[in-house]
Amino acid sequence: MPRMLTHCVILFCWLIVIEIKKKLINTGRQVKYFIETYGCQMNVADSELVMTILERSGYEKAADIAEADVILFNTCSVRQHAEDRVMGRINNEMKYKISRNVKIGVIGCMAQRLGEDIMQLSTGVDFVVGVDMYDKLPDIINSAFHQEMLSVTDINNEQVYPEIMPIHQDPLKAFVTIMRGCNNFCSYCIVPYTRGRERSRDHKEILEDVKIAADQGRYEVMLLGQNVNSYQYDDISFPHLLEMVNKIPNIKRIRFTTSHPKDLSDHLIQVMADSNKICQHFHLAMQSGDDKILARMNRGYTAQHYYDLIVKLRKAMPEIAITTDVIAGFPGESEEQFMNTYNLMKDIEFDFAYMFKYSPRSGTKAAGFIDQIPEEIRLERLQRLITQQEKITHKIYQQQIGKTREIYVEGISRKSELEVAGKTPDFKVTVFPGTKDKIGKFVNVKIVDAVGWTLKGKEI
Ligand code: SAH
Ligand code: SF4
Ligand code: F3S
Repeated sequence: MPRMLTHCVILFCWLIVIEIKKKLINTGRQVKYFIETYGCQMNVADSELVMTILERSGYEKAADIAEADVILFNTCSVRQHAEDRVMGRINNEMKYKISRNVKIGVIGCMAQRLGEDIMQLSTGVDFVVGVDMYDKLPDIINSAFHQEMLSVTDINNEQVYPEIMPIHQDPLKAFVTIMRGCNNFCSYCIVPYTRGRERSRDHKEILEDVKIAADQGRYEVMLLGQNVNSYQYDDISFPHLLEMVNKIPNIKRIRFTTSHPKDLSDHLIQVMADSNKICQHFHLAMQSGDDKILARMNRGYTAQHYYDLIVKLRKAMPEIAITTDVIAGFPGESEEQFMNTYNLMKDIEFDFAYMFKYSPRSGTKAAGFIDQIPEEIRLERLQRLITQQEKITHKIYQQQIGKTREIYVEGISRKSELEVAGKTPDFKVTVFPGTKDKIGKFVNVKIVDAVGWTLKGKEI
């Protein structure tokens, strides 16, 4: 009885806090928020975390940006272009401040990197909140409605947001963060500075999160971290975690990203090969095919080591799809060193590659290297990589024709109301004739054509 009484008192106080917040903001109705997300899947997962935190505090999701009282931009700093794009968007959305009392906040990696300087870059920004301070957001928003401008960007290297089970927005799949931060300090990369030190979430919470998602009909889970291969919580390593997720009954597809080549173990390859739920797709960032550049990037492996990993993966899983990230024009990269990357990509034949021209990030080691490559050479090298990869991807996609693939149908095709779209286990978008009753189902499809990066099929 006394316990029940305590619970009632806590609930009562909580409701009062929510009511006071609404009154303080003085809108007479529930305060609505809108989040626009940039960057990687970890940012997508963080936006879901932020939504959960806000909704627990009585905020309501706005149907669109035009009806929001609070607009949050969850930002990315990985390349200069990512930052420029979001600053353009923020400045564009200032128009809502003219007619209504809208508060604009910047969260995510750019908030962490630039802090209150963002308020100088765009004078309409009301608050800036770093990646480890999201639990403070309800109070910060409240202060913003009291005309306080706030920047809260302390790093908390232990922060894993325990006991907050994010509300997954996608009805069919869940992004589940298994670790935060990164310790690798690749010399070009801003992430270790914006996300802090690497720490793993309690496996029990991860499993609970996945179970809830699966029970709600999300058959696919994507486990997220900057380097999932180094997941470690007590005596649970990443392959162990995968084995545990594999046992959750309603989960039918398991994906993960990203893996670092220096930490990819034989144990992980074995666990993948033995499972019929872990999707046979591996995203393994190569970055460069030249040993000296890899060393300057602080990647901790050689081109040969990387190549050997690909051979191992393909030996264990002959049908596996492999994708990668590559950077063109890293400081000091000679034409010959660039060609080592070009040729390694040609030898490996990735299913798909995300290719970038090097972008100097202030504060990283590589930004201080004196032998920066001129912009036009970086661009020209990038273009050569793209042209080659397009041909390889085209060839691999053509080889799918005639095969039968299982598609997890995610929605109506963007191009035709009469077709549905989904993905093969190895992450290839596939479109076939069908109606919306197929959404959320697993359908066997015969591939009849490949157009660009899309496979076309027929249900069998
Ligand atoms: N943790 C992931 C990468 C996250 S960032 C991993 O290591 O696999 C995603 C990709 O952006 C990187 O793999 C890299 O190819 C690219 N990238 C990071 N910093 C960059 C920079 N300064 N310039 C260009 N590309 C960069
Ligand atoms: Fe950046 Fe390297 Fe960490 Fe990936 S592993 S997030 S590229 S520092
Ligand atoms: Fe960008 Fe931050 Fe992800 S810099 S790539 S949003 S970790």
